[in-house]
Amino acid sequence: MKLITTSNYEKLSQQAAVETISRIKRNSSLNLGLATGSTPTGLYQELIKDHKQNKTSYKEINTFNLDEYIGISKKDSNSYHYFMCEHLFEHIDIPLDQTHIPDGTAKDLDEECKRYEQFINEHGGIDLQILGIGQNGHIGFNEPGTPFDSRTHIIDLAESTRKANSRFFDSLEDVPKQAITMGIASIMDSREIFLLVSGASKAKALATLMNDDISEDFPASALKNHGNVTIFADKDATALL
Ligand code: PGA
Repeated sequence: MKLITTSNYEKLSQQAAVETISRIKRNSSLNLGLATGSTPTGLYQELIKDHKQNKTSYKEINTFNLDEYIGISKKDSNSYHYFMCEHLFEHIDIPLDQTHIPDGTAKDLDEECKRYEQFINEHGGIDLQILGIGQNGHIGFNEPGTPFDSRTHIIDLAESTRKANSRFFDSLEDVPKQAITMGIASIMDSREIFLLVSGASKAKALATLMNDDISEDFPASALKNHGNVTIFADKDATALL
């Protein structure tokens, strides 16, 4: 894993954007894996800025999001569908039918997991996957203990994850208890991975990732088995390295 350290979050977002845009310039029909959460929003702002200034086009790009809450409709402002439209898709020239997110309201959720996994494969797999990391080491919504050979699946959210995400909801009770997420093996199939880590609250997770052994108890440690991972971390996140 290659570690790029930046002085602050703004620089982290800019550097990750420069590298993402370079991949799009190399391959105008890139399959781009996307993440939600606070960390990638700066990257998305930079991509939007670049699209407006330099006309980088997303007309042939397909995007694949990591995860979605179960039981929240696409129109709900807490859905990841809504998040992605608001933070990225509405502001670039990507056709919305080329943006793909698991459907957390599907009648048959097991079928939806199979469909999403197969759908990504039919599109030729993900070229570049953007990832954040949870304080407990989760990637996507793969909580500690998730098998490394997991494919897209339904997961019970850890209490710590629900608490961390309750900032977006009116109350903790409103945070869904389950999500649909690409599995660890699905993520590892990506040809390249950018892991974004920002802030003091992630310092322990980053130190665990860099220093400890590979273990299913710390999902992000699977990335050590991937040959093409770049970690973008700001100074606060590297405090314990
Ligand atoms: P965050 O979430 O970017 O909002 O910290 C990351 C994650 O939980 O994967």
